[in-house]
Amino acid sequence: MAATAHACGKVILLGEHAVVYGVPALAVGIDRGARARASALDEGPSRLVIGGWNVSVRPDDSHDLARAFRALLDASSSTRPLTVDVEADLPPGGGLGCSAAIGVAIARVIEPHASAEAVQALAMAWERVFHGNPSGVDAAVAARGGCVLYRKGEALDTVRVRGPLQLCIGNSGLASSTKAMVDGLARLRERKHDLVERSFEAIRTLVSNARLAVEAGDRSTLGRLMDLNQMLLGGLFLSTPEIEHMCGLAREAGALGAKLTGAGGGGCTVALVPSRSTADAVLSAWRREGFDGFATNVAADVMAVPHESGAAP
Ligand code: MEV
Repeated sequence: MAATAHACGKVILLGEHAVVYGVPALAVGIDRGARARASALDEGPSRLVIGGWNVSVRPDDSHDLARAFRALLDASSSTRPLTVDVEADLPPGGGLGCSAAIGVAIARVIEPHASAEAVQALAMAWERVFHGNPSGVDAAVAARGGCVLYRKGEALDTVRVRGPLQLCIGNSGLASSTKAMVDGLARLRERKHDLVERSFEAIRTLVSNARLAVEAGDRSTLGRLMDLNQMLLGGLFLSTPEIEHMCGLAREAGALGAKLTGAGGGGCTVALVPSRSTADAVLSAWRREGFDGFATNVAADVMAVPHESGAAP
């Protein structure tokens, strides 16, 4: 019997980019994510197949996905050859942690009994191939789900969500490269060190207040903090005209706050909404302007990612 595993996507509510420099980020896991299925092969080499993307690679191929697969296999204790089939329902380059969700799903299916920390470590071996030196927030949230305060190099801090958080996620239509955006900000920081550091310190304060707002169920404050975070991200040249337009449309339709989520430079926008009817209004406003989107709920106290498994391959 083949083993299967799931990992969730993530939405950073506040703190992206600053998190790379040690500032905490507030993030939530979402239902959409990636699913992996592993079957044992009689003989090697192993194979990674991503059906929807027309990808079928072996660890020694030169494709980035092959190199990432090899890095993950090398870091694991798995010795038997496998075929790993993956499906992802997140837009790649969309800021929703698609690559981390795939890495976590593969790690889980290969090592079904590994702890969340061990799964995260395997997924980081995969992530480094694409993102250079990621903060680890994507892999941490993909492995844990729920709402967390993530700080690079520290244990995850679980945030208790008071009352459901209703989010609309919209795709600006442009995929972006996390590595390129992170490298671009590093170059800006070299040239304008004080300006970037001041923005990071302001983001640190917003994140810490946002955590309190989530715990208190104060969604209006959380929305305002998201708007302020967006202003700072715009000042760091991480936003785009499409993202600004989407944020404006969401606020006009009744969203409590809206911002880019993830690396920026394209990718997705997240809007916090007070009700299902406002979610519908935001999604319609986006759709009228050609932006796809979906609504998602972060339920109170959801801490675990569904983690199914058959027999180990
Ligand atoms: C990407 O989802 C989030 C960034 O902060 C990069 C990282 O944390 O590695 C932009």
